[in-house]
Amino acid sequence: MATAVLGMQWGDEGKGKIAHFLAASSEMVVRWNGGPNAGHTMFHGGVKFGTHLVPAGVFYPGVESVIATGVVVDLSVLREEVETISRHLGFTPKLILSESAHLILPYHRLLEDVEGSGAKFGTTRRGIAPAYSDRAAKVGVRAGDLLAPARLRERLAERLEALRRAWPGVSEVERLSAKRLAEDLLEQAGPFLTSIGDAAGAIQDALTAGKEVLFEGAQGALLDVDFGTYPYVTSSTTAFTGLSAGTGVPDLRVERRLGIVKAYQTRVGDGPFPTELSGEVAERLRKEGGEFGVVTGRPRRCGWLDLVALRHAARLNAPTGIAVTKLDVLSGLPELCVCRAYDRHGMETTRFPGDAEDLARCRPVYETVPGWEDPLRGVRDYKRLPAATRGYLDRIAEAAGAPVALVSVGPTPEETILTGFDTPEGDRYNPAH
Ligand code: IMP
Repeated sequence: MATAVLGMQWGDEGKGKIAHFLAASSEMVVRWNGGPNAGHTMFHGGVKFGTHLVPAGVFYPGVESVIATGVVVDLSVLREEVETISRHLGFTPKLILSESAHLILPYHRLLEDVEGSGAKFGTTRRGIAPAYSDRAAKVGVRAGDLLAPARLRERLAERLEALRRAWPGVSEVERLSAKRLAEDLLEQAGPFLTSIGDAAGAIQDALTAGKEVLFEGAQGALLDVDFGTYPYVTSSTTAFTGLSAGTGVPDLRVERRLGIVKAYQTRVGDGPFPTELSGEVAERLRKEGGEFGVVTGRPRRCGWLDLVALRHAARLNAPTGIAVTKLDVLSGLPELCVCRAYDRHGMETTRFPGDAEDLARCRPVYETVPGWEDPLRGVRDYKRLPAATRGYLDRIAEAAGAPVALVSVGPTPEETILTGFDTPEGDRYNPAH
């Protein structure tokens, strides 16, 4: 059986905690999009980890962790993460790195500065857009090239030559040498060379053998390169639609799709955000929710839950269940606002515009709902949640078009309420199996 964990907002929904929780009962965990722009926070054995590239399977000795074709890989980040985790946990994770995954190279990070795209869009400056651009332009370097050093040097030399022509006089580009770069890459990749292979085949085989496979999405549907708030988006298909392309596995085989929804809205980086708040409530959400970027440390922009955007994300991700995270952060607010529609040029609409400028002109139409005083971190039983909290969850489930399968009331795996739900086939689905 296959389960996908999918972000339903602008990333930072708490996918890390949920993926880590579900990985415990999986046999394979697959990352399929994005790169080290992602920051997944997980508590394992009481220790807090922030991962960027490795799938949550690395925390469990028997679980295979796959970095699939759709991921852009920075070998220096991968090496550091694997070494840190191995040191803490005392075993080396079982890793498969797709031979067709593209590498992020030092000049990709540089290009975000040279071209100015990093500053213009408030990116994570991890070289993500230039690496995906090179892939599309067929001038990228792939993990499989590491197995053929002569070809690797040749590709790097051609690319560096073209960059020097495009950016004459940029000393950082001038200084780069293909030979040196190839040596550095091979050195960084040393421990992974035997892990490079046919990831798509490994995933297909695992599914055919009936294994539990978890697909760990990165970022969220609203950052999707095509259906997010373009151009204030990342450079991969973050929605469920990207899973097939990023893995080589037809999505028909992914029966369970768990949409992760934070109980309020956040965004890091630039771009329109209709329900953004300033002042006391925003400060409170940021402080109580620890809303600072895992990758860049930037304070996240905070606001009320946007149901228009959530419905849009639900169309892209087709969740069969949702996990609502950080519900505990809202305790103590006397009332909450949810955005049920947008006011666009004086007309009410529930359509999420496909264009960022259009979205920037939309004003939120709020509905006020009762808040709750009770702290939630100790609650483990859905029925013990305050009536107002359950009412709030019902609104979220209705907009997402899927039942609440899991509620997170704190950062640790224990602070989780499992509800499960009935599948259309009549089976009871419990996300923890
Ligand atoms: P890039 O992915 O570094 O090119 O950044 C493009 C936009 O996506 C910026 O607004 C980033 O802040 C945002 N972004 C990328 N990855 C994440 C993530 O994992 N969580 C939240 N925002 C992200």
